[in-house]
Amino acid sequence: MESEEHQAKVVLIGDSGVGKSSLLDMFVMSTFKPNQESTVGGSFKSKEVHIGTKIIKLNIWDTAGQERYQSLTKMYCRGASVAILVYDITKKETFDNLRKWHEIVLESGNTDMIFAVVGNKEDLIEREEVKLEDARGFASKIGGFYRKTSARTGFGVESLFENVGYKLF
Ligand code: GTP
Ligand code: MG
Repeated sequence: MESEEHQAKVVLIGDSGVGKSSLLDMFVMSTFKPNQESTVGGSFKSKEVHIGTKIIKLNIWDTAGQERYQSLTKMYCRGASVAILVYDITKKETFDNLRKWHEIVLESGNTDMIFAVVGNKEDLIEREEVKLEDARGFASKIGGFYRKTSARTGFGVESLFENVGYKLF
């Protein structure tokens, strides 16, 4: 059977320290760095996901969560089809801030974007500060889907990006 090929721009967004770069490293290289450096500016990696006969190349932009890079983050959002909004399940504040990040993504002017709300650091579940219903509620309010991941163990990481591909095409 013939395969269809697609590509899409994806941005990882959220506060500094939530694990955006770690999620990308785990997805693309299957590695985890306990002392991952905070991202300066932004970075880029791509990987294909296969959904049935479709091959979808995800071009993933990893943004910097630190305040001073906010205008740069807005630029990275231009032309993106998917925004993955990441919070740290052990830090409620990083979840509350997703409202602000969602607005920043919308200000970039893209329409019909796919949103994922991702609670990362699932390996620290005993310290979880965000109620599942609140996370699910926020995801559905913005028309997105919710997932929990751990960039440390790999839990849910592959499945997150596969679902992104599935929603896209
Ligand atoms: P900025 O680049 O500053 O925006 O941060 P970031 O969102 O890219 O976070 P980063 O990936 O640098 O991770 C921050 C810290 O959290 C690092 O010390 C990571 O090793 C750690 N970390 C990331 N993901 C996980 C996870 O799933 N579980 C645990 N236990 N630690 C994690
Ligand atoms: Mg980073």
